[in-house]
Amino acid sequence: MLDFKIEFNRPVIVGKETEYMQLAISSAHMAGDGPFTKKCNTFLEQELGVGKALLTTSCTHALEMSAILLDIQPGDEVIFPDFTFVSTVNAFVLRGARPVFLDIRPDTLNLDESTLEAAITPRTGAIVPVHYAGVGCEMDTIMEIADRHQISVVEDNAHGLFGKYKGQFLGTFGAMATQSFHETKNFTCGEGGALLVNDPALAERAEIIREKGTNRSRFFRGQVDKYTWVDIGSSYLPSDILAAFLYAQFEQSEKIQSHRENVWNLYQSSLMDWADAHDVQLPHIPEHCEQPYHMFYMLLPNLDLRTKFISYLRERNIYSVFHYLPLHLSEMGRKFGGKEGDLPVTESISDRLVRLPFHNGLTSDDQEQVIDAICGFQF
Ligand SMILES: Cc1ncc(COP(=O)(O)O)c(C=O)c1O
Repeated sequence: MLDFKIEFNRPVIVGKETEYMQLAISSAHMAGDGPFTKKCNTFLEQELGVGKALLTTSCTHALEMSAILLDIQPGDEVIFPDFTFVSTVNAFVLRGARPVFLDIRPDTLNLDESTLEAAITPRTGAIVPVHYAGVGCEMDTIMEIADRHQISVVEDNAHGLFGKYKGQFLGTFGAMATQSFHETKNFTCGEGGALLVNDPALAERAEIIREKGTNRSRFFRGQVDKYTWVDIGSSYLPSDILAAFLYAQFEQSEKIQSHRENVWNLYQSSLMDWADAHDVQLPHIPEHCEQPYHMFYMLLPNLDLRTKFISYLRERNIYSVFHYLPLHLSEMGRKFGGKEGDLPVTESISDRLVRLPFHNGLTSDDQEQVIDAICGFQF
């Protein structure tokens, strides 16, 4: 990691992480699905009101599980926003899917739902919206279209734990949703994730896929007297040491979320006038969305200014970063036919977006330095 006075991200201990990891070690249950994994699963189920939550080794792996669960076959089409992390798409391409990339809305940077219906064909196997920065996609429209065409929705909610759309938690709309606990997320254990299973018909098979294709979970519940290989699957469950770390973070969820809310609000209130004066766009949170304060980004007028802005902050020891490159223009995306100009909103946003330092240890002094530096930037 580069050494900056004000880092973009820093995972911090917020509660009993070390104590719980020691406990997981001394209780001799270091493998997956130990007591802390169960506590994490129950926490997610109860807080969000989902039928089944399964901790996984990453959001990437939860996405891979969802593609297996939906029986995605070679040649199936799966619909994604173009502006997302590689894993959202790669998890389905691994099963042989052909990605169909949609452009994003210029306000929330989420999949543009007005283009969704036209992208559906008889081969469409799934729709995978991403709640960018934890701000909800237009789920009413997306679910109505998906239900009418009987296509499953998997919400990539890597950024959005505790975000809401029209009062309902993100991750509870689709048949399934995926969470990330990577070190850049609000809640972390270094690397980790979860699969939320809202469709009860998928719950048992989800356990099997996560446990190397075996019915070991049924065995542990005493429902079968030995366990065996029953389906395809892989090893998608994290060590209980990681779950111990994560559970300690969950216990501090109010503290974490309220700190992050303060960080976000300070950036917003301090930069609003400056942004207006310089044609810089700050995040748009629709009234019917509650955000989980995952990230603070800004859209600069063009790529040249964005490049200068990032190096200007670096010279002042402040680490700001850009985000996703348009997937249709990546090496893999071009193999699927992507070319310049196909998805102009994503292409423009990707060039202009910059994310400011944002983590659970960021102080208001750090933020004041970032804000002062920003306000001194010469356009
Ligand atoms: C939208 C999105 N989906 C999936 C992932 C992958 O998450 P993980 O690192 O937990 O596999 C990321 C990574 O940040 C992401 O931004």
